[in-house]
Amino acid sequence: MEQTAKVQIKGIGHALPSRVLNNQDLEQIVDTNEQWIIERTGILERRICEPGMATSDYCYLAAIKAMEQARVSAVDLDLIIVATSSPDMLFPSTACLVQERLEAWGAAAFDLEAGCTGFAYALSVAEKYLLSPDYHHILVVGSDMCSRFVDYTDRGTCILFGDGAGAVVLGRGMGDNGLIKTILGADGRGAKFLYMPAGGSALPPSHETVDKHMHSIQMNGTEIFKFATGIIMDVSVKLLASAGLSFSDIDLFVPHQANLRIIKTAIKRANIPLEKTMINIQKYGNMSAASIPVALAEAEMEGRLRAGDLVLMVAFGAGLTYAGALLRWGRD
Ligand code: UT7
Repeated sequence: MEQTAKVQIKGIGHALPSRVLNNQDLEQIVDTNEQWIIERTGILERRICEPGMATSDYCYLAAIKAMEQARVSAVDLDLIIVATSSPDMLFPSTACLVQERLEAWGAAAFDLEAGCTGFAYALSVAEKYLLSPDYHHILVVGSDMCSRFVDYTDRGTCILFGDGAGAVVLGRGMGDNGLIKTILGADGRGAKFLYMPAGGSALPPSHETVDKHMHSIQMNGTEIFKFATGIIMDVSVKLLASAGLSFSDIDLFVPHQANLRIIKTAIKRANIPLEKTMINIQKYGNMSAASIPVALAEAEMEGRLRAGDLVLMVAFGAGLTYAGALLRWGRD
């Protein structure tokens, strides 16, 4: 019987700013305290974009590592997808800026905006392209410089977010490992719970929008929290059911790192052991679209992923959007 090709992660890498903002630093900036932040979010510190650097710079650094590991050079790339909601500028796309840095002249390039769900969305989109014989290698990067759009007078949001980038090179393989199933979804009724009001065509920049802090993240944390805990279970159950698998089959659960309490609620409901869950939110906070690829890259570096391992990734974010991917780790 002819075996069908699987979409595999051929290489993975991440890049993080070296500047650290810890909870004590935040105590100096806004009316908050370390104990509250740790108890309510699990975050100890986060990375903050260096002056003069932008999303495309960290995308580039993460991409280089992923390409090295995949042994794929820039000329081999057919498509670059950058998942971000903090692009260098409104246009051109950050993906085109990355293409130029890489000199990947044969690659098409576009950005994908799905908030914190962006990387999981992009993975699913890239998977579909790789069903076509015209595409061989796709670079998918999740990167956000949240600190550039956080209002550091709003204690409800500024304590949560951090900056980073994670990248994968996807290609086809004939073995058993690779993506099993991806799921995407959205509920636009929740758009009002996480958004940036100004700077787009609805409300272009003006002195008033700047004065009123309308170029920064606005969030209804309670609504997002409720949405997140429900949707993680829904997506996970659907993914596993589609493959005839169950929670006990999972070797590593890689959830979006938004709040430690959300992660703990999810794994308690699903009965996934803590040691089978990738958690790095304490070091980086919520890095939005970079959250899952950075967690996956660190899991690999820490030796927590072996060929054949069943990995479940689930993300949620602005939109509201949600997505998940089930894969067997490894490449051939
Ligand atoms: O990637 C998706 C993006 N977002 C998320 O996933 C966010 C999901 N939501 C959350 O993580 C949580 O809702 C937050 C961490 C944002 C907030 O935690 P919470 O337990 O829902 O707190 P709350 O908003 O209900 O506020 C409880 C109290 C309030 O005080 P009062 O009214 O009870 O006196 C807040 O004013 O905590 C206060 N508070 C703070 N206190 C100290 C809110 N933020 C802070 C703070 N430091 N930073």
